[in-house]
Amino acid sequence: MRAVAFTEFGAAVAVREIAVPEPGEGEVRVRVHAASINGFDLAVANGYLQGVMEHRFPVVLGKDFAGVVDAVGAGVGGYAVGDRVFGVVTKAFLGDGSLAEFVTVPVAIGLAKLPDEVSFTDGGALGLAGSAARDAVAAAGLTAGERVLVSGATGGVGNLVVRLAVQAGATVIATARPGEEQELVTSLGAAETADHTAGLAGQVKDVDVVFHLAGDAAELLGVLRAGGRFVSTLVGAPDQVPTEEHTVLPVRAQPTAATLDALAADDARPVVEKVYPLEGALDAIAHFTAGTKGKIVVSVAE
Ligand SMILES: NC(=O)c1ccc[n+]([C@@H]2O[C@H](COP(=O)([O-])OP(=O)(O)OC[C@H]3O[C@@H](n4cnc5c(N)ncnc54)[C@H](OP(=O)(O)O)[C@@H]3O)[C@@H](O)[C@H]2O)c1
Repeated sequence: MRAVAFTEFGAAVAVREIAVPEPGEGEVRVRVHAASINGFDLAVANGYLQGVMEHRFPVVLGKDFAGVVDAVGAGVGGYAVGDRVFGVVTKAFLGDGSLAEFVTVPVAIGLAKLPDEVSFTDGGALGLAGSAARDAVAAAGLTAGERVLVSGATGGVGNLVVRLAVQAGATVIATARPGEEQELVTSLGAAETADHTAGLAGQVKDVDVVFHLAGDAAELLGVLRAGGRFVSTLVGAPDQVPTEEHTVLPVRAQPTAATLDALAADDARPVVEKVYPLEGALDAIAHFTAGTKGKIVVSVAE
């Protein structure tokens, strides 16, 4: 099969021909129709996870996928060949990735049925960013009428945080440059925008919650009211953001079946900025690296 992979540390990431994986016990094999790019893929491609996670070469990039179950391993219940599915590759090692024609995934976590009305493109964009967004909004414990700043609102996670926070009744201030970015976040429901390239302190004050999906933590703490919540997908532990006046809530996305089902059932779909073919996956990665308005999807099969 074709897969976006590298064969050893230091080797270039390329579209390569590798063996089709077999599903192990408790796994299904998915014929991938669409996948999308996340920051995690850049970290893997750049070798930042060397020594952090086991690498089983060839290492195929890709966390998010949507497709159709084409083989079922031993001990699997609830899924059958032909099911439309989507989710996130969550294995403890690097090797099996979704930027490929096939991927094997456990049914226990990171897999859910994809309703017929949700396209493979949307499903392939939804898993990791959507789980992070839902988990971040849940961690914030928003109440109606609170004022929140979404820093990184133009990204895949941020788009959905804006929508979910608006659904929760919050008044959302979204970071965006003037022009297209501003129009995008406003269309998602942001009541106000703040240009993060022009210093936030003069534009935003005393919000109840900051969603830290991008940007400088110290600058963002400066616009959070005393007692406010600082919800971050970027830090792993509260002490990474020193403050005595605020509650720091690190978020690590958990793509449980319940979360994925909720994402699929919600009208708040991801914004897909561009779809690339599998052969153009390196361009997709470069596009994501340069900054996006929403998700970058790789179409693997129609
Ligand atoms: N903890 C977890 O489980 C988890 C899960 C998913 C994602 N993440 C992390 O969460 C972050 C957001 O993910 P994502 O997929 O949405 O990434 P993304 O698509 O790269 O979005 C980040 C957005 O922030 C914008 N941005 C850059 N610098 C900014 C600044 N100083 N202030 C405000 N906005 C800025 C970027 O646009 P421009 O560059 O064009 O300005 C981009 O639109 C990433 O760091 C990712 O690694 C964590």
